[in-house]
Amino acid sequence: MAYDYYASGAEDQWTLEENRNAFARILFRPRILIDVSKIDMTTTILGFKISMPIMIAPTAFQKMAHPEGEYATARAASSAGTIMTLSSWATSSVEEVASTGPGIRFFQLYVYKDRNVVAQLVRRAERAGFKAIALTVDTPRLGRREADIKNRFTLPPFLTLKNFEGLDLGKMDEANDSGLASYVAGQIDRTLSWQDVKWLQTITTMPILVKGVITAEDTRLAIQAGAAGIIVSNHGARQLDYVPATIMALEEVVKAAQGRVPVFLDGGVRRGTDVFKALALGASGIFIGRPVVFSLAAEGEAGVRKVLQMLREEFELTMALSGCTSLKEITRNHIVTEWDAPRARPAPRL
Ligand code: FNR
Repeated sequence: MAYDYYASGAEDQWTLEENRNAFARILFRPRILIDVSKIDMTTTILGFKISMPIMIAPTAFQKMAHPEGEYATARAASSAGTIMTLSSWATSSVEEVASTGPGIRFFQLYVYKDRNVVAQLVRRAERAGFKAIALTVDTPRLGRREADIKNRFTLPPFLTLKNFEGLDLGKMDEANDSGLASYVAGQIDRTLSWQDVKWLQTITTMPILVKGVITAEDTRLAIQAGAAGIIVSNHGARQLDYVPATIMALEEVVKAAQGRVPVFLDGGVRRGTDVFKALALGASGIFIGRPVVFSLAAEGEAGVRKVLQMLREEFELTMALSGCTSLKEITRNHIVTEWDAPRARPAPRL
């Protein structure tokens, strides 16, 4: 049940496969004979300096993967010098995660019908030192995840949604289908709209990243509504099936953002080459979801450290072999996509 919850996507899981396949269709145009003896992967995200443009996406219920759950992830992220995003549906509270020590952390927000619950939670995250809100906007209802329906997925009885424990919303009841889908239907606000993005700014000083944008239209609306950044995400292919892979949607969003806010990407990033491709298409950084829960399950904190280290090393190697010594040297000309195919093909013989 736990594995299926982590691994699966919505319905036919077409988007789940496509999130990976689309990366494989992007090829490199590496440059040679450039001194790559020193490679700088550092970057600044919303004013915070981090060691690499590889960050941790929010994934729920991490104690289902490992007893240390979010504690382990927080420690691994902070020792790698990068950002962790804590899920609203974490099995450790914002205060507990803060107690693991220093680290730059973002808080992912699901907006509940009861706005007092939301306001209270945002205040707690702010007080616990979280630096930004990642507002998830692609989940007015839960996607149809058939593995969870078949398994009648519910949170194991020894775990709770820790952030909501004191608010009496910490338990997920069993249901005839997915317990999580029922929980969402009962608690999450389907009326959420752009007005609420503005409302959120009245209750917090934290910058707001809108997570789940995949079109130019919504990019423009997000910027108008005051978003500090955009996360191109299809929720790891767990919401609407047959949306494009995020790497296919990225450039449209980047163009619409016109450099006014940073654009990030998550979905299917499994290799250093994927990170490079996303940056070449204009992303300021990427987030990983499943690699964290799987590495947690395998080895706890050491596992997450290892995943971050592997991606870091692969990304560094990709930069070196492409002739880039810093992130700003990664350009659109370092890759070729199928939508610029005419440029890539040799000129026809006359
Ligand atoms: C998620 N995701 C997610 N997103 C969010 O905003 N709040 C959440 O609680 C969760 N929970 C969650 C659980 C699991 C098991 C997965 C796989 C995903 C989506 C997540 O933040 C991110 O968008 C994707 O995981 C990125 O895709 P990859 O890296 O898993 O391919």
